[in-house]
Formats: sequence, structure tokens, C-alpha cells
Amino acid sequence: MNTKDRSLAYLKAEKGSYVSGEALSRRIGITRSAIWKNISKLREEGYAIESSPRKGYLLSRVSEMLLPVEIREGLATEVFGRGDIIHFTETDSTNERAKELAINGAPEGTLIVSEKQTAGRGRKGRTWFSPSGAGIYTSLILRPEMPPSEAPRITFVTAVSAAETLLHLTPLEARIKWPNDILVRGKKIAGILTEISTEMDAIDYVVVGLGMNVNIPHFPDEITDTATSILIETGEPFSRVNIVREYLRRQEEYCRMLRVSGFKPILTRWKELANIVGRQIKVEMIDRTHIGEVEDIDQEGVLILKDREGTSHRIFSGDVTFM
Ligand code: BTN
Repeated sequence: MNTKDRSLAYLKAEKGSYVSGEALSRRIGITRSAIWKNISKLREEGYAIESSPRKGYLLSRVSEMLLPVEIREGLATEVFGRGDIIHFTETDSTNERAKELAINGAPEGTLIVSEKQTAGRGRKGRTWFSPSGAGIYTSLILRPEMPPSEAPRITFVTAVSAAETLLHLTPLEARIKWPNDILVRGKKIAGILTEISTEMDAIDYVVVGLGMNVNIPHFPDEITDTATSILIETGEPFSRVNIVREYLRRQEEYCRMLRVSGFKPILTRWKELANIVGRQIKVEMIDRTHIGEVEDIDQEGVLILKDREGTSHRIFSGDVTFM
């Protein structure tokens, strides 16, 4: 831990009492002016620290940013988020940063988070609305040992982890919409963008991008009817740090399950959360549209749809509307 984080840990341990500059400097083993510099940096990171010439420093509010030191505190994982967590105040897309790091050898479990994205990407070349400090924009680097054809399973794992995180931490009835949207009351609250790089017949890396609308008060006109946030649904702001921690825990647990027990238990849980089998849907693809009943989601995550003439179709990707 660097001296800034150690100063922070000491202030946190004192839980709302003043700590003298002298005690801090003795404890951390740096000069009082170095302590002052650390306090200034912590304030820039969003910590509210009161200072009094006689009493010293008091931490009155922790930062609301997705800072690595906050995510790590109480993180119940073994690998995910245990190594590097890289935090940006602003970046174009966390998936782009993650791919760069992965190409340069960043290990499994490396996490990239940003307060804001200037070019957040969604599926099919769409943009992802990424205002500062209000959503979660995160990309996780994975290096699974599986054939590239099985990589879509990672997206199923992520959808289950993200939906369960919302179910666990909020009162919302989060559901999955095939292939990988997370909805609340029919509106999108989170989305997943998985990108994969292969070498020969093996996966080199997978970048799992998760965007979640947490404390976003309103959306641009074009998506206001189709998007929602935890704040809009509950009327309350939620801690983004808690959500990221819970998501990492579940993601690690389900990735382990995939390794040890295979895809079946994940697909079973996914189907419970998606509630799509047996329902009438419309699927719009680039070149055609099908209407019919969902027969199943198979072991590859492919949607099997029986149309009104009784013909079955295997659909790999598309936009689903319930009828
Ligand atoms: C979708 O539903 O279309 C997928 C949205 C994925 C958005 C996330 S936000 C973090 C990561 N970085 C990106 O540029 N996109 C993903």
C-alpha cells in the first residue's frame, strides 16, 4: 500500500474522530507536509476530509468514485479484482483499454473501470450512454481455457452474475433478455459487450464489458422509453462500489462453476432468469424477422424458434420483442 492509501486506512480506522497531523506522520513514517499532500490527493479523489489546525484531520465522507482501494475493501474474490484494478476518470471505452492491456499480457482478473466513457460501445455498433459518476462502466480480462466456439458461454455467465447482483442488492425484479440484456420492468438497465481474441484454436483473452445504469436520473430522448436505472426504478441512489464488488464475486463463482461443472447449471439458471422458453416473440435480425414460440436455448446459447408454420429456426443473434 502506498502512503496515501495508508493515510486513508488510518483515517477510516478512526471512524469520524480527528487524527492529529503529528500522529499520522509518525504512524505512516513521512513528514507532515507529505501527509498534507496525501490529504489533498484524497480530496481530489472525492473524500471529504475536514482539517483543523488544532485537532488535525477527520474523514467525514468516503469517495463515491469507483476507486480501486474502495472496491478492494471487503472484496470476497480470489482472482477477479485482486491484481490490478485500473481506474479512469474518463476514457473512450473501458473495453478498448482492457484489450490494450490484455494484448500486453495483463492477467486474468484485471479490471478496468471508468467514471465516464466518451465513446462507450454497445452491441451492433451502438453507443452506450456513459455519463460521469452515475453508471458502472467496467471491463474484466479473462483467459479461459476453452475452445473459441464456447466463448459465448462467458456472456451467459456475465448475464447471470449481473442479474443476480441486482436481485441481491436492490428490490428490483431484474430479468435477462436474450441474448444478454438485463431488464427491469421491460426496460434496459444493464448490457454486456464481450470481445474475444483467439490464437490458433485457443482463446488468448476475453474482455467482458459490463455497463449498468445505477444513479442516472434521466436518459436522452432517443432511449428514454427503453432505458432505465436503479435510481429511476427505486427513487434511491445506490453504491456503485458495492455493486461492482458483488458482481465480481458472482462472476468469479460462475466462471469457476463453468470450469468445474460445465455449462448446464449456468444455462439452467440463465433460463430461470430469462423466462423466455415457451413464450411468443418477435426476433429482428439484420436481414429478416421471425415471429414464433421459443422452443429452447440450446447448449451453444442459440435460440430455437418455431414459427407459425411450424418450422424451427436457429437464431444466433437478434433483437427480441415479447408479443
Ligand atoms: C449492449 O447492451 O449493447 C452492450 C453494452 C455494453 C456497455 C459496456 S460499458 C463498459 C464496456 N465498455 C464499452 O465501451 N462497452 C461496455
